[in-house]
Amino acid sequence: MPTEPNPSSVTPGNARPRVLSGIQPTADSFHLGNYLGALRQWVAMQDTHDAFYCVVDLHAITMPHDPALLRRRTRVAAAQLFALGIDPERSTLFVQSHVPEHTELSWVMGCITGFGEASRMTQFKDKSAKEGTSAASIGLFTYPILQAADILLYQADQVPVGEDQRQHLELTRTLAQRFNHRFGETFVTPEAYIPKATAKITDLQEPTAKMSKSSSSPQGILDLLEEPGPLRKKVMRAVTDTGTEIVADEANKPGVTNLLRIYSALTETSIPDLERRYEGQGYGTLKKDLAQSVLDTFTPIRERTEKLLADEAQLDRLLGLGAERARAVARRTMEDVRERVGFLGRA
Ligand code: TYM
Repeated sequence: MPTEPNPSSVTPGNARPRVLSGIQPTADSFHLGNYLGALRQWVAMQDTHDAFYCVVDLHAITMPHDPALLRRRTRVAAAQLFALGIDPERSTLFVQSHVPEHTELSWVMGCITGFGEASRMTQFKDKSAKEGTSAASIGLFTYPILQAADILLYQADQVPVGEDQRQHLELTRTLAQRFNHRFGETFVTPEAYIPKATAKITDLQEPTAKMSKSSSSPQGILDLLEEPGPLRKKVMRAVTDTGTEIVADEANKPGVTNLLRIYSALTETSIPDLERRYEGQGYGTLKKDLAQSVLDTFTPIRERTEKLLADEAQLDRLLGLGAERARAVARRTMEDVRERVGFLGRA
């Protein structure tokens, strides 16, 4: 359950716990893993939380990138989030680099992070494995510290993410507690919010691996902005397992289990109910129905995204308003941090 928000961290009269989460603008579209693992929760939590959501463009430059493409993808990311139902009236949606306090706090948190502690982050190990650690940037190494700063700046109580972010959230909690212990109570210790059923959506072609923009083949990934034809084909060609029975069995039937997990989440039907419904039917029927529910979910989002992207000035204006609101909170936290750490106030 969410902890009570730190009274000094929330706007007066606002009793809701605070949520913050972020997503990288590193692809031309978000995918089904992002949607079920995180973004759906972002939308739902607007009703119960004081919501801050962030397109993390600073994180996106930790790997080699193309500047024009990054700018484009940052807008596409924001448009998809609005299209999914993030409401600029109820949530603060902003671009990370618009709020310079993120990098400022990241430096301070980096100074209380052990080198060994940062070296244990598995995502760094995975991402740097291809080219070797010495070719990886320092930014990629300190990535989780910037992520901690994103969360702590807003005094977030809860952070909805997929399973792959659990270790980063643990580090964030450790750093919050360490800072509080050394310099006095400053940060809320956030909790990861990782619903088990959708914590790890897997690759349609390699159902034991995470669906991922960086490692999945195009056939293994379902993109939110993809056209209906290719989406349908990918679902129909998803790898299934030997046998014909439609039952969830992670160890022996990872392919069918992933399809059931996705279908269950999209239709809000329990997996046992689906197993009963498809008893005696082949994989083809399940795939056909699943493809349809993917299209029913994705099509309106794609159409709304296209409309929002047609008016870049309006999109940028909304992001400007988000940045202003985010910055007001971030500034307050940084004032406390500066004071606690011992920086001399400017006359
Ligand atoms: P990113 O951009 O890789 O992914 C965005 C969100 O999608 C989730 N996700 C998945 N969930 C289930 N199954 C999958 N196959 C799957 N693939 C991705 C991720 O867990 C994530 O929640 N480091 C973060 C971005 C970040 C952040 C933050 C998150 C930066 N600052 C502050 C929370 C709070 C990342 O790279 O997410």
